[in-house]
This record gives sequence, structure tokens and C-alpha cells, in this order.
Amino acid sequence: MKDSLAIPALTEDLARVLIDADTINRRVDELARQISADYKDSEGKLILVGVLKGSFIFIADLARRLNVEHVVDFIALSSYRGDHSGNVRLLMDTRENMEDKHVLIVEDILDSGNTLDYLIRNFKTRNPKSVRTAVLLDKPDRHIVPVDIDYIGFTIPDVWVVGYGLDYNEKHRTLPYIAEMYPQA
Ligand code: XMP
Ligand code: MG
Repeated sequence: MKDSLAIPALTEDLARVLIDADTINRRVDELARQISADYKDSEGKLILVGVLKGSFIFIADLARRLNVEHVVDFIALSSYRGDHSGNVRLLMDTRENMEDKHVLIVEDILDSGNTLDYLIRNFKTRNPKSVRTAVLLDKPDRHIVPVDIDYIGFTIPDVWVVGYGLDYNEKHRTLPYIAEMYPQA
């Protein structure tokens, strides 16, 4: 068994560590403090909705640091990178009823904006009290559809990143840091 405390070294497909584990940790702490303060009067009506699969580690860390009552839910979508038609397909819906609830969408990364634009529009039809968004990473150079993001962890350049939930063909999701990949052939 590998030593679970050791920080895994970069493999040959990874160019560099973009954001190390300590930096992620501190930023998630800050976001959790800010979100807890903003929702302090939400009276148990907060639902965090993680977008699968990329957000699973971020939402786990964030949710455990909130000091406001909330429930966690998930949604799964498929979208194709490179498909600029904005096609987003719902694979698995949430389970919680959003009526009269504060919904906070938790997403790994904002790229074209198609995914969050779709989710915000969709959730707003369910009569929630509010809909906000938290993204760990933002790639401003790739935005196509404008979306309002309420909480952003880090702004990054237009490179493919993996780790802390993000993957390349399901690889590298469990790295504790965010790494930049070499462009793939
Ligand atoms: P948009 O904003 O274009 O984002 O709807 C769609 C999805 O693309 C994924 N994405 C990435 N995943 N590394 C990843 O592992 C990346 O660098 C990256 N850029 C975009 C992500 O799942 C997002 O939800
Ligand atoms: Mg995603």
C-alpha cells in the first residue's frame, strides 16, 4: 500500500503543480467562512448541489467546513468540450425539492459557461428562494456564455487541469493538488 500521507509526484503527462494542496485548503476555508456568513439567516433552507463528477472533492471539503445547516445533493450532466452548441444533457437529477430553498450550485470549473447557464436556468424554474454558484476554478479566457458566479476559488489560464476532483479520461481525480497537463495529442 502506498503511504497515504505522501504527496504524489507528478507523472510524465503532468507539466507542473498549478495550485498546491495547502493553498487549496486555505482558499476552501475562506470560501466556507464567506458562504457561512452569507447564509447565516437561511434557517435550514440551504441545499448544496454538487455537479458530478468533478466537484465531489470540493463539495466534500466545503460542506464539512460550513457552520450553517444545509443538505447536500448532486446532479450529473454531460457536455462535450469542443461542442460550442451549448448542448448539455441531464444524466441524473437532484433528489431534493428546491421549492422555497436557497440553492448553491457547487462546480469544479467554469469554462465556456454552458453548464452553469443551463443549471441556473433549470433550477430557477423550480421556485427556489435563491440560486447562487460556487466554482473552484475559473478559466476566463474560455467564457462564451456570461454567467454570474458568486464564489470563485481561483482564476487560472486556459490549460487542461486535473486533480482535486478534476480528471483527464477519469485519471488523476484524487491528486491532492491541481496540476496542469501537457497538451494531449
Ligand atoms: P463549461 O463551462 O464549458 O464546463 O460548461 C464544462 C465542463 O468542462 C469540464 N472542464 C474541465 N475538466 N479539467 C477538467 O478536468 C479542465 O481543465 C476542464 N475545463 C473544463 C468541467 O467538468 C466543466 O464542468
Ligand atoms: Mg464539471
